[in-house]
Amino acid sequence: MTRVAVFTSIAAFAAGAVGHATFQDLWLTRHYEGTCARLPTSNSPVTDVTSDDIRCNIHSAATSKCSVPAGVNVTIEMHQQPGDRSCTNEAIGGAHYGPVMVYLSSVTDASTADGSAPFFKIYEDTWAPASSTSQGSDDYWGTKDLNTNCGKLDVPIPADLAAGDYLLRAEAIALHTASSVGGAQFYVTCFQISVQGDGSVKPEGVVFPGAYKATDRGIEINIYQHLSEYVAPGPDVVSGGTTAVAGKAV
Ligand SMILES: *[C@@H]1O[C@H](CO)[C@@H](O)[C@H](O)[C@H]1NC(C)=O
Repeated sequence: MTRVAVFTSIAAFAAGAVGHATFQDLWLTRHYEGTCARLPTSNSPVTDVTSDDIRCNIHSAATSKCSVPAGVNVTIEMHQQPGDRSCTNEAIGGAHYGPVMVYLSSVTDASTADGSAPFFKIYEDTWAPASSTSQGSDDYWGTKDLNTNCGKLDVPIPADLAAGDYLLRAEAIALHTASSVGGAQFYVTCFQISVQGDGSVKPEGVVFPGAYKATDRGIEINIYQHLSEYVAPGPDVVSGGTTAVAGKAV
């Protein structure tokens, strides 16, 4: 398939730490939509789940809303540095293993919404075991799928979703230093979207901050041991949402 190479504005970014990364681009049915991201001002993570920054990170303003028909895929895209969309560099480096999750929040105007309204989860790609004895860091993770797919993952927008404005919150959690409280790293970008369609569903949601606790078992976790399960933080994926299989997501 053809993907149009369009670079994201780099003006808002300072050089960031190695391995850190930012969701910076959104594609609509594989067609590039670059202007609706509230781009984080650096590629450093949020680490305090009680901060308002856990909603949409510390960000600059987006220039528009992306118009998205219900039922289509959007494709989120992450890279370590703004404008570097090379597939030879890992999307998120430094063994930053962990889940990728996408939420929506129904809002009056996506351009001005502050992220305080409830979010519901429409997508997750979390963890799958590599073998019966593997340690967690050797297992499959959502962030490894980002790296395999040149930073991209396809996220279906539920077909029955009510039309209107939403904030789309894309999140990767890096768990490489998460064995102590406060060690997990939250890489979040919100995208401003307007959903078109004749659906009527508006799922219940959770509020940030509050939805996560620093001691949640999917947040305070030692991944350098064998894991028999991984329980992602936040609510279950809503009906009509997508649970991808780590190691197989595209
Ligand atoms: C969305 O993306 C997934 C994964 O690439 C694909 O299997 C599915 O067919 C896509 N759905 C639509 C409606 O394009």
